[in-house]
Amino acid sequence: MWKEIDAAPADAILGLTEAFKKDANPSKVNLGVGVYKDDQGTTPVLKCIKAAEKALIETQATKGYLPISGDPAYAANVQKLLFGADSEVVASGRAATIQSPGGTGALRVGADLLKKFKPDATLWVSAPTWANHKGIFAAAGFAINDYIYYNPATKGVDFDGMLSALEAVPAGDIVLLHVCCHNPTGIDLSADQWDQVLAVAVSKGWTPFLDFAYQGFGDGLEADRDAAEKFAAAGIDFLVASSFSKNMALYNERTGALTLVSPTAEEAAVAMSHVKKTIRVNYSNPPAHGGLAARAVLEDSALYEQWVGEVAEMRERIKAMRTALVDGLASRGVEQDFSYIKEQRGMFSLSGLSDEVVAWLRENKSIYIVKGGRINVAGLTSANIDYVCDAIAEALKV
Ligand code: LMR
Repeated sequence: MWKEIDAAPADAILGLTEAFKKDANPSKVNLGVGVYKDDQGTTPVLKCIKAAEKALIETQATKGYLPISGDPAYAANVQKLLFGADSEVVASGRAATIQSPGGTGALRVGADLLKKFKPDATLWVSAPTWANHKGIFAAAGFAINDYIYYNPATKGVDFDGMLSALEAVPAGDIVLLHVCCHNPTGIDLSADQWDQVLAVAVSKGWTPFLDFAYQGFGDGLEADRDAAEKFAAAGIDFLVASSFSKNMALYNERTGALTLVSPTAEEAAVAMSHVKKTIRVNYSNPPAHGGLAARAVLEDSALYEQWVGEVAEMRERIKAMRTALVDGLASRGVEQDFSYIKEQRGMFSLSGLSDEVVAWLRENKSIYIVKGGRINVAGLTSANIDYVCDAIAEALKV
């Protein structure tokens, strides 16, 4: 069956991890996939999750199926985290949340749902965006287009370009927006810029789809939800894909959520009925374990406080590695100014390294970076930072 078929290319991000694992160089460094590492280079289970899991194992009485939409208590807690416990959107029932297999699962369920009711819509993504966004929406059958976002010359957002591009998006189309810690650039909108984007969404009538995978990695769990709160207060239809992969380090438990917000609770209920149909013919109902652990952390005030501290620790370590990278390059006499890396937020840095340099680093130093120059700053540690800085300094001279 496969004789005449060419092999598919490796995934732009996860394919790097496959290659990294096969690399025999003991100095190898994986700065590809967005996975947090502590300073020892490991991705530990958070202490709050360990405690929640311990209690769970002792008390869990069944492995029976969850509902199609997942655990309702998990969904309620997710809504509070996304919009705030006192949010009107939570109290009014204008939001419907399903538990999904990770943020990717949430995006795909949302994409399949939208395709059913907006078959002719185009999906607009920022240029650049997470490598998998286009793949997910293309797999659901969408035509995809870019809106201007990053300006390589200023290393910032081309906001005028972005706004005029969004003003030209036809009513009924879908626009994917990164709530915080933009992947891959690490550059976010200011509060005032979000107001302007929201005003365009309202006046032009396109549907926002918020990707919210890094809550807590910018300024904190509450501060990072500003944009989500603004959209909720606007009373429009929008979707949110969220994930506990990063902020609870639940990567392999595939613990995410898709939230559909509507102008009224009645509409949200209709949306929920259709999203359940979409899920039933895909994976039927979600895996339970990650959601139960996440819910336990969200419900228990002591575990929640512990979690807030652990998220802060991850966030602060990444920030410290940004400084170490920028200073390390400068102290090696690298002329190019990399100081903008310190201003970027979240796990990633669009480093400004060219594809040639990225390829050279992989070939000669076994340092793995995503094509386009995205570095997972959380992969830097005190043990590898000198090696990485030396290598980049050398690569830039080649
Ligand atoms: C990333 O961007 O590296 C992460 O979101 C992991 C993934 O699935 O690509």
